[in-house]
Parts: sequence; C-alpha cells; structure tokens
Amino acid sequence: MTQAALDNAPYPHRHLLGIEGLSPQEITYLLDRAETYVGRNRQTDNKKSVLRGRTLINLFFEASTRTRTSFELAGKRLGGDVINMSVATSAVKKGETVIDTAMTLNAMHADVLVVRHSESGAVKLLSEKVNCAVINAGDGSHEHPTQALLDALTIRRRTGGISGLLVAICGDIAHSRVARSNIHLLTTMGARVRLVAPKTLLPAEAERLGVEVFHDMNAGLAGCDIVMMLRLQTERMHGAFFPSLREYFHFFGLDYSKLANAKPDALIMHPGPMNRGVEIDSEVADDIGRSAIREQVEMGVAVRMACLEALAQPAGEGDGG
Ligand code: CP
Repeated sequence: MTQAALDNAPYPHRHLLGIEGLSPQEITYLLDRAETYVGRNRQTDNKKSVLRGRTLINLFFEASTRTRTSFELAGKRLGGDVINMSVATSAVKKGETVIDTAMTLNAMHADVLVVRHSESGAVKLLSEKVNCAVINAGDGSHEHPTQALLDALTIRRRTGGISGLLVAICGDIAHSRVARSNIHLLTTMGARVRLVAPKTLLPAEAERLGVEVFHDMNAGLAGCDIVMMLRLQTERMHGAFFPSLREYFHFFGLDYSKLANAKPDALIMHPGPMNRGVEIDSEVADDIGRSAIREQVEMGVAVRMACLEALAQPAGEGDGG
C-alpha cells in the first residue's frame, strides 16, 4: 500500500503493535468490521477471500491456546495461507535471534507476522526490521492489543457501548499486558477504569494511567458494570508478591460475596487462561447468566479477522518499504 493510500485508510497504520496511540475512530472501525464477522463465523460457509494469495505466519515465543488458534482460524477464514512456526523446533534453539528469525521469514515474503514474545518491546523492534505487517500477539507485560479489542467487542455487544461504563480490572496488573491494553482502550473510548490489586501487584505508574486504584475488592467492585479478572502471571514474577494462593483467593479472588458489590447485572470477564480457585471461583466463572468468558473467546476470531483485513495489502500493492 502506498503511503498516500495508507494515510487515507480507516486504519492508517502498517502494523498493530499496541492500543496506545490509536484513536477512538480507529478502534471503532476495527470493532465495526469485527462485528460483521461475528454472524458470518456462526455459519457453516464462512470463508472469504480477503487474504487470498497472502501468507500469515504465527511466530509465538511464548505459549498460547486462544490467540494462536484464533489467528490461524481468522487467517484461514479470510482465505489466506497460514503457517504456525514451532519455535521449539526452530533454529531459535540453535541460538538464532528473534530479529534474525523474523528477517528470515520476511525474506520468504510473508505478508503478516503475528508475534508473541516474553520481552516488552520485542515485537516493535522486530517490526522495524521487516517490510511485512506485524501484529503484536502479546509482548512481555507491555501490550496485547487484540485481546483488548475482543474484550471491547464483547462489552459493546452486551451493553450497547463502552462510554460511561465503570470497569474494574482486578488482580495481577503489574505483569499484565492485557491490563495495559485494556486501560488504553477503555479510557480512550470513555469508560472509567478502576484497578483493584494488592500494592505488590500494581505497576509503579498506575496513578498516571488515568485510572482509580483500590486495594480492597469490595470497595473496588462497588457499582461496577464490568468485572475483569486477571491471572497471576507467575512466569513473570521474580520473588514473592503475595503470602499464599489461599490468602490471595481470600482477599482478591472473585466469588459471589465480592461480586455482590458490583451492579446486579455486572458482566464477569477473564482473558484466559483461568486459574480456578486462585483469581476466580469456578461457579462464578461458569455462571452462564453473568460470565462472558466463552463469548470473549468467540469474539477473538472476529476481531483477528478484522485486524488481518485492515493490515492486508491487496496483491501487487506491496511497496517493499
Ligand atoms: N488470552 C490469551 O492471550 O490467551 P492465550 O495465552 O491462550 O493466547
């Protein structure tokens, strides 16, 4: 796509590296496009040709069930060729760097690289070395933009809009890329955001993110429309952040007693994977009247289709830049 065409596009970016910096119009455009794919995905004949002749490579340096699979489904439903690169059996194991790996895939004329990496900033660095589109599928504790978009689509479908809602994001905020992307998206779209966590699991910059901070679940959930629970990201923890899992659940695990502080119809969300009995009680997670957790997974495919569509260049228009 030429720079002029890119500038005039409804999503005027070569990559999707984060929610920070996206405008309300750009977010709304992606959500509206995703909405068109929700109904189509429920039909048997749901294949489109937006990505025909285009190649998407999933490059995940960290484990994933939902994100990797839904990008694969999204790419295939749009008619593209999808390759899942197994990092465990790749030349990364022989010492090849993430940049060299990406440049190798770029030289094979991949059109979109979907990348997850344990280091914050790694996906942006990689995007500067290749000339294909790059989507951040989660980088360290920095951002997970498609998760925030699918959360927003779920909220919008359930409540009719995001502006004016009171959203509590609860749990391990410090290590959560999902929290950061959601904070950017929800505040950009006019929601009020509360972070509810023990002091040890809040980032130093929490007060500067335009949110309210609570250290007590009952107070933090009071009057909320949305309760978004987060997993303890133990893989990013170096040291002790809480006394025990039992104590963590007692004070910060979502159960019906704490949920009673939120609005009676408050929606329960969780990006997954869940640790039942740690940050969320099983009965609450499986409450079909209140929990939107399965719907979040479904919206993931539609949102990723919208993102791939927005970044896909029509065949023959690659500018090599
Ligand atoms: N929510 C999320 O990113 O899940 P996965 O780790 O399974 O992709």
